[in-house]
Amino acid sequence: MSQSHTSPIVGLPELCIVVPVLNERDNIVPLVAAVRETMGEVAWEIMFVDDNSRDGTREAIRAVAASEPRVRMIHRVGRRGLASAFIEGAQASFAPNVAAMDGDMQHDETRLPVMLQALRDGADLVIGSRYVPGGGIGEWDKTRAGMSDLATKLGQKVLKAHVADPMSGFFMLKREVFDVALPNLSAIGFKILLDIIASLPTPPKIVEVPFQFRTRVAGESKLDIGVMRDYALLLIDKMVGHIVPVRFVLFAGVGSVGVVLHMLVLLLSLKAVGLEFDAAQGLATGVAVLGNFVLNNIITFGDKRLKGAKLWRGLLLFALISAVGAAGNLSVAAFLFGPQMTNWVIAGLVGAVMSLVWNYSVSSAFVWRR
Ligand code: GDD
Ligand code: MN
Repeated sequence: MSQSHTSPIVGLPELCIVVPVLNERDNIVPLVAAVRETMGEVAWEIMFVDDNSRDGTREAIRAVAASEPRVRMIHRVGRRGLASAFIEGAQASFAPNVAAMDGDMQHDETRLPVMLQALRDGADLVIGSRYVPGGGIGEWDKTRAGMSDLATKLGQKVLKAHVADPMSGFFMLKREVFDVALPNLSAIGFKILLDIIASLPTPPKIVEVPFQFRTRVAGESKLDIGVMRDYALLLIDKMVGHIVPVRFVLFAGVGSVGVVLHMLVLLLSLKAVGLEFDAAQGLATGVAVLGNFVLNNIITFGDKRLKGAKLWRGLLLFALISAVGAAGNLSVAAFLFGPQMTNWVIAGLVGAVMSLVWNYSVSSAFVWRR
């Protein structure tokens, strides 16, 4: 690997600390002061990446920057996400080493010089780790600790390298390593470290430096149900994303739930209610389409969820698309099953896959568009 991190080029910081922020107004001043204090002689810069905070975070950053030229900022509008914020922050800097650190003082900035030294000593990637001796999760309750534990075990499954804390948001890496991962990044949600490691063709040389996760003093955590959904998406994308889009996998999953729902309603209305087959089949189809729409709206397209009037318009469109898909399914199956005398399993499957692909592509283009 190159020696660029030791080059004495005047004006080029050795380390860029990328700090994604969303409503962290009261943490800006203490964070910059703490970094300045701890970095000593190292040439550093901080790249805040703000996703249009509403609490005066940018004003606080601007005020600090007036007397601290090493503070920079990217202001993103109409964008969200910790992972993509880190990526864009790293790309906006020329520093040969890049760190990711939270903007809420929960990460121990006094570890930064130790982490930088590990890179100088030949590591590709240094992780601020809660799960090596000397590290810890601080004052987390049982639920959060258990969730983190589960998420960590899942994450370790998709990685080729052994990492004690692949979920950490506190890490540092060489730019040349980041550049290799860049084209393969999923950039979904919170877990950018896992994303980076899984995106490298060969396992990087990793060092884990222990740190104690601090308790948040100002502001609020942004970890919510959406973050957990994004994590599931990231894992799926890392496992099968090179074959099919992750959304398609979700859409197909919802579709299979729809089939089960269909059969259940069919069974009930035939046996319990005593409907005629045509009526029962019609009812089951209606319920399945409605169920698919609701689940897709929450899960598959949760980030583009339709509400209010758009919800009804979407449902109507979705039902129409599904009807066309079903007609296509029937005719393809009949064509394969009919003159060619192919077996009915293949005919049925090809028909189902055809309508799945149709429903998916047309729905993502017209029902859940941006
Ligand atoms: N720009 C931007 N955009 N920043 C964001 C966004 C976003 O959509 N969401 C969160 N942030 C910023 C917050 O302002 C904070 O500086 C940092 O990202 C971490 O967000 P928190 O909401 O405080 O996360 P956490 O403390 O629950 O989770 C942390 O610990 C996890 C370990 O379990 C993060 O470091 C995670 O990455 C980490 O996995
Ligand atoms: Mn936090």
